Amino acid sequence: MKILKSILAASLMFAASGAMAQPPHNLMTVDAGKKGIPVQETMYGLFFEDINFAADGGLYAEKVKNRSFEFDDPFMGWEIFGNVKLQNDGPFERNPHYVRLGYPGHPVRFTGLENEGFFGIGVEAGKEYRFSVWARTAGTKDKEYISFHLTQNATMGEDQMFCHGEIEVDSKEWKKYEVVVTSPVTEPKAALRIFLEWNGPEPDHSQAVDLEHISFFPVDTFNGHENGLRKDIAEALQALDPGVFRFPGGCIVEGTTLDNRYQWKNSVGPVENRPINVNRWNYSFAHRLFPDYFQSYGLGFYEYFLFAEEIGAEPLPVISCGMACQFQNDPAWHPHAEMDELECFVQDAVDLIEFANGDVNTKWGKVRAEMGHPEPFNLKYIGVGNEQWGKEYPERLQVFIDAIRKKYPDINIIGSSGPYRGGEWFDDLWAAMRTMDVQLVDEHYYAGERFFEENADRYDSYPREGAKVFAGEYACHGSDNKKWNHFNAALVEAAYMTGIERNADVVYMATYAPLLAHVEGWQWRPDLVWFDNLNVMRTCSYYVQQLYALNKGTDVLPITMNGKPVAGKDGQRQLYASVVKDTQKKEYIVKVANLSYYSQEINIRFDNLPRKQKLAADVTCTSLHSDNNVGENTIENPDQIVPVTMPVRKDEFKDNNLKTRIGPKTFAVYKFPYTE
Ligand code: AHR
Repeated sequence: MKILKSILAASLMFAASGAMAQPPHNLMTVDAGKKGIPVQETMYGLFFEDINFAADGGLYAEKVKNRSFEFDDPFMGWEIFGNVKLQNDGPFERNPHYVRLGYPGHPVRFTGLENEGFFGIGVEAGKEYRFSVWARTAGTKDKEYISFHLTQNATMGEDQMFCHGEIEVDSKEWKKYEVVVTSPVTEPKAALRIFLEWNGPEPDHSQAVDLEHISFFPVDTFNGHENGLRKDIAEALQALDPGVFRFPGGCIVEGTTLDNRYQWKNSVGPVENRPINVNRWNYSFAHRLFPDYFQSYGLGFYEYFLFAEEIGAEPLPVISCGMACQFQNDPAWHPHAEMDELECFVQDAVDLIEFANGDVNTKWGKVRAEMGHPEPFNLKYIGVGNEQWGKEYPERLQVFIDAIRKKYPDINIIGSSGPYRGGEWFDDLWAAMRTMDVQLVDEHYYAGERFFEENADRYDSYPREGAKVFAGEYACHGSDNKKWNHFNAALVEAAYMTGIERNADVVYMATYAPLLAHVEGWQWRPDLVWFDNLNVMRTCSYYVQQLYALNKGTDVLPITMNGKPVAGKDGQRQLYASVVKDTQKKEYIVKVANLSYYSQEINIRFDNLPRKQKLAADVTCTSLHSDNNVGENTIENPDQIVPVTMPVRKDEFKDNNLKTRIGPKTFAVYKFPYTE
């Protein structure tokens, strides 16, 4: 009897344990009945700054450095040989220098010059390149001849030169000449050599030719524009499907002094007459010094607007507010424009809006039309100032706001919250921005892993009314000397971004920074995309940005664990999650980051599905993972860590409930198609 009783008790306990089964591990519930918060079209975006040779030597496809001899050292980037003289009364008033090539003094000597490009000149076999030059004869002859050649200076072979062209200069007047050549070989580090050729049976004293704006440009640029962008880099950016394109920086907006701030008016009009500007990243860091870093402005505001349009992103120019970089200037030096000196800065801002949107009969609309774009660029946003702080900033910003609102009341103005993600300056600036009624506030945060792990709920408590957030510069800077684009940095960014996504009613724009870096020319890292002269490498952070951008959906829904947003807190086992619905593609998209070192069971359950909706069985999971936490993609091995898409096992998804495992250190994007 005793035995019978205990068997009964045991079976009762077993039955009870079955009936009251442990709650499934890590249950995340999606409230599919909620209306959802609309996702802004401006999510997610690109922050472009000419840092790390991102423009000249990078996205801008020009291969000749110092093409107009305007650097402080006019022959920087050039080797000259024979009889080459620098002149300064050229045809372009804002770039007056050019070179005169004359008789070298002896029949077997050469006169010419050679350009080293940006860490060399990269060319690919079978691709076309356009050599162009402004030239005129400068001796007594009617005609002069120049030849140009690509060279492999490091070769041990007999002949260094591999790609040639010749130009007949047939006028005493300045004219543009051009020749298209096809490279027979691929070479990452060629140089461009130019010779004055004999004009007759042998050279003579009367020979001379003037050359200006010497350019070597791929024919195959992004969308085929002549003064265009390097196709592979531009395509990598386009593939991020950006909602907004911020340019031209960053600190270069401000300048080390106001004299070398970015002045957009210098960056438009004929490319030959855009004056160069020293790049402030030239001398910012003694340990990464690039004295040959200048801005040619060949990639200027017209090209930025055009690129934004062609990749479907809202253009977002940022302009100087009359304050030079505050990191580089002691207030005692009076580096900023005084309040009564702001007029030209404000005029630049107002004129910029006219350049972008004005009718072709307006002064600046006409400039845009003459450059090839009579239709407006439909500018909606403008940033005033970059990382500014102190009382000087709001008082200057107010002057801009008044002028812009008076003429263009529909333009959205973006103010700065300074260089830091919190603290007194940040709080004061946010308070000021709210009273000044700007539409968006630019926040910057470069921080270690911990910040990203612990702050996925940062925006949960932001006021829902008033100015919205533009997370304008952010990136995980690995601590413990791991300040490179390693996998874990990207993973914590992914976790943090669940909080950006969840707060779609607060964060309207978010751009990782910086965007681009040349492997031989960087000053700042990590960066989103790296390149050399021939190759492009997408970082793990790139893939995180892309997974968010391509899966941003149309409406954010709540997803909770233990009744709270899934932000890696309160027993949530280092799990982070957000969910969007895409009403056009008809799918729910759940993003989950598992920052723990162990694989975990997760349950994603859809509650309150609208009656007409039915979740389909073909759920997919795209995941980003690396066994090596500090592993990275490299130029040599760019595809080590890439997203992988797999169907979810059918038996894992039942009754609107996905019960699956997420691997350790993994970012996963689950897609649940639905019908209705
Ligand atoms: O993104 C690099 C720099 O970081 C930007 O120029 C500046 O705004 C910030 O300090």
